[in-house]
Amino acid sequence: MNCKSDNQFRSNATDLRHLILGMRAAYARGDNAMEYARQAVGIIDNSVVATLIAYDLQAGSYVASARANPEGNSRWCAQLAEIINPFLAQHGSLLEVGCGEATTLAGVAKHLNKTPEHALGFDISWSRCAEGVGWLSKNEASARLFVADLFDIPLEDASVDVVYTSHSLEPNGGREEDAIRELMRVARRAVVLVEPVYELANSDAQARMLTHGYVRELKETAERLGANVSGYRLLDYIPTPLNPSGLVLIEKEFNESRSKPTWRCPLTHLPLSDLGDVFAAVQAGLIYPVLRGIPMLRVEHGIVASKITSKLK
Ligand SMILES: C[S@@+](CC[C@H](N)C(=O)[O-])C[C@H]1O[C@@H](n2cnc3c(N)ncnc32)[C@H](O)[C@@H]1O
Repeated sequence: MNCKSDNQFRSNATDLRHLILGMRAAYARGDNAMEYARQAVGIIDNSVVATLIAYDLQAGSYVASARANPEGNSRWCAQLAEIINPFLAQHGSLLEVGCGEATTLAGVAKHLNKTPEHALGFDISWSRCAEGVGWLSKNEASARLFVADLFDIPLEDASVDVVYTSHSLEPNGGREEDAIRELMRVARRAVVLVEPVYELANSDAQARMLTHGYVRELKETAERLGANVSGYRLLDYIPTPLNPSGLVLIEKEFNESRSKPTWRCPLTHLPLSDLGDVFAAVQAGLIYPVLRGIPMLRVEHGIVASKITSKLK
């Protein structure tokens, strides 16, 4: 590493130290940690690292609210399952992007007409995935959870039949195009975006979405990317009217099914093998750790380990 990049690295570490300690303190005071980050860093769009810290701090809150309002949770999940059903064949595969604590994924899986053979979910926050693993097991639902960034999904092209979101693109305002392109890459049959729809919202909701840096123009962005948008509407059941949930449904041309979702290295895009205690991109000499049973598959988690082999030792 040369001097310039060393200095850059140190100043990034200093920024990050201030950010994480500042956000934790804001959260402990009962303030909005994301708002703190926006003020402290002076950004309009929400940065990935600030989004990660803000959501990780709140881990446990979705499980608590699903427990407090099981009817609401069930209604939400049934509504999503109804949208997904036509695209999921027997032995199909399903992925929730930004699954949080799996309170939606567990319920959707239960309400589907056909149980997917491969159900996957990932979130940028480890603490949320850890809560999700507990929630899935309490609800006798089965899904593989891992940590990943929706902008670098560690799966091969056309790997999963249905890729869906439930308000996870939401905080990534300004990066709509990269997000939709990546979801379309991984999906085989359909991308189901359940997100707040700025263009269909009233002026109060729009003002709130602007303040929070939420996504906009999802339909227009998808169409600009050449997507076939076959559904666009607000949902019947909207839990938070000031954050109006809508559907942008993207159908893909039918492709031959892969037998199962296939991992790929999020950095090099080379094949990635699940070796149990680590994931390895042998051709790249990179490994990704598994933390308390949860694979850590963000680019930032890659560890140079040139002597890694595909054999379990
Ligand atoms: C509003 S919550 C919704 C959680 C879940 N989908 C549900 O229905 O309960 C948004 C989630 O998206 C995740 N998220 C946001 N940006 C992400 C990114 N770039 N990559 C992966 N997850 C992300 C957050 O960590 C958070 O758990």
